Amino acid sequence: MLRYLSCFVLSFLFLSPAYAADPIAGETRYKKTCVNCHGPAGKGAASYPKISGNEMEYTINKLETYRAGEKIGPNSGLMIMMAKSLTDEEIENLAAYLKDAKYNVND
Ligand code: HEC
Repeated sequence: MLRYLSCFVLSFLFLSPAYAADPIAGETRYKKTCVNCHGPAGKGAASYPKISGNEMEYTINKLETYRAGEKIGPNSGLMIMMAKSLTDEEIENLAAYLKDAKYNVND
């Protein structure tokens, strides 16, 4: 019985959808470094762009581009440095968090 059960659990793991992203883990990761430039909840600050409210695909695409060392705007150097160490999972989690992140003055 146990054998069947672990078989079931394993196949479930492999069949889970590509976007099993975790916005809570994304928020934790965001607060480690990203918040220093992009401000609380990705609202943007001075010359650092607002990065909340975008579709996941948009954010994932930008982060993968920076991680590959490719420029997007005039200040990409900073982001290439930041994105280099991100894992696929971190990128998905960050994108899931940023999609719905809302700035709240009381945060
Ligand atoms: C040292 C400051 C700094 C830090 C820390 C930083 N960023 Fe950025 N980020 C920037 C700058 C500057 C740009 C604009 C770069 C350009 O000109 O291409 C940017 C651009 C972006 C963009 C693309 C915005 C768009 O719509 O084109 C995303 C997404 C992003 N950052 C996410 C993140 C995430 C997620 C983290 C944390 C892992 C992070 N950033 C950490 C400075 C920073």
